[in-house]
Amino acid sequence: MNIDKNVEEDGVIFMSIKGDEQNTKAPDAEARKAAADGEASGGKGKEDVVILAIESSCDESAAAVVKNGREVLSNIISSQIALHTIYGGVVPEIASRKHVEKMNGCIRAALTEANVTLEDIDAVAVTYGPGLVGALLVGVSEAKAIAFATGKPLIGVHHIEGHISANFIENKDLEPPFVCLVVSGGHSHLVVVKDYGEYEIIGQTRDDAAGEAFDKVARAIGLGYPGGPKIDKAAREGNPNAFSFPQAKIGDAEYDFSFSGLKSSVLNIINQAKMQGQELVQADVAASFQKAVVEVLVGHAIKACKEYGYDKLAIAGGVASNSGLRELMEKECKANNIKFYRPSPVLCTDNAAMIGAAAYYEYKKGVRFGLDMNAVPNLPLGDRERRFHAGK
Ligand code: KG4
Ligand code: ZN
Repeated sequence: MNIDKNVEEDGVIFMSIKGDEQNTKAPDAEARKAAADGEASGGKGKEDVVILAIESSCDESAAAVVKNGREVLSNIISSQIALHTIYGGVVPEIASRKHVEKMNGCIRAALTEANVTLEDIDAVAVTYGPGLVGALLVGVSEAKAIAFATGKPLIGVHHIEGHISANFIENKDLEPPFVCLVVSGGHSHLVVVKDYGEYEIIGQTRDDAAGEAFDKVARAIGLGYPGGPKIDKAAREGNPNAFSFPQAKIGDAEYDFSFSGLKSSVLNIINQAKMQGQELVQADVAASFQKAVVEVLVGHAIKACKEYGYDKLAIAGGVASNSGLRELMEKECKANNIKFYRPSPVLCTDNAAMIGAAAYYEYKKGVRFGLDMNAVPNLPLGDRERRFHAGK
């Protein structure tokens, strides 16, 4: 993956992510001839499905053009992370306002880089939940406006289903069924992906999500926001066995997670050290905390594969870029003859290419949303009841 980065005047980072095999050629005589022969620009054949995808559920404004669910023609992310860092977390009002400012530019760049126009697009897809309501509404309104103006079909995508589908982009051989561990800022789910768009949740967090625990502990030990990547980096310098933090087991639901006890235990150690006038080694706390989280995540995921009889395991969501998680999961998968799939880190964070991947399989099933589509901030994973049906 190559990332072109540009920091804009307001601190927002504009990124264009290109895969190694991506065709980045500008329109040329060859493309024009292909179009004249019945193919659209961007190398689009008659059977191909090209989707413009939009994502704005948190603090990334993103747009992408994806062909046939797995070929990313363009992937644009406008990241506001630096703006929120000064407040120690995402400020929803700022996020929504920046989405309004940046989204059109992202969409324009995505179409240009993919070498397609709105006419070549077969559908417009957008994340409609879960997420921050004001942030989601920007993407949803944008997608509805494009669908209305062009007459193209509209497809709503669940953000987490998007994260799971990020695995399809670089792993052309990956097909359901498989087990997926979804770990992001708002979710910790262990899911069986039974088919495209069909999910069975077998475990979830009882309290904090994994990413939330990383963010809270990072703040407590003075690393600041965004916590996950900072703990990941600090942990590389620390001793993972310096502290023995609890790994919660939930008796009646063996695949569920709980991270609040672990977080309290870190806070206790910090307070104790303060009272005794001792200096804690930040990297040791980070490494020990990360080890406790990662061992639980990996343990549950491997156990689920073995007990449910699956030999394919994927990871998804922001925390899936954690190097400790990737390392231990790889080792345990190897030891248990399980094939391990993970997206490149840049496809683990919020992006629109993953939304385009998920939308393709919905499109093939004939799913179409109406212009009554709304943002659903607490949309449950796998919920097919709340679809906003076309023509309703
Ligand atoms: O998927 P994501 O970008 O947004 C949500 O859908 O929530 O996930 C963001 C979360 C944050 O909590 C962030 O701290 C965490 O993912 N994260 C990480 C790492 N990179 C991001 N956690 C641990 N290690 C990382 N390297
Ligand atoms: Zn996310």
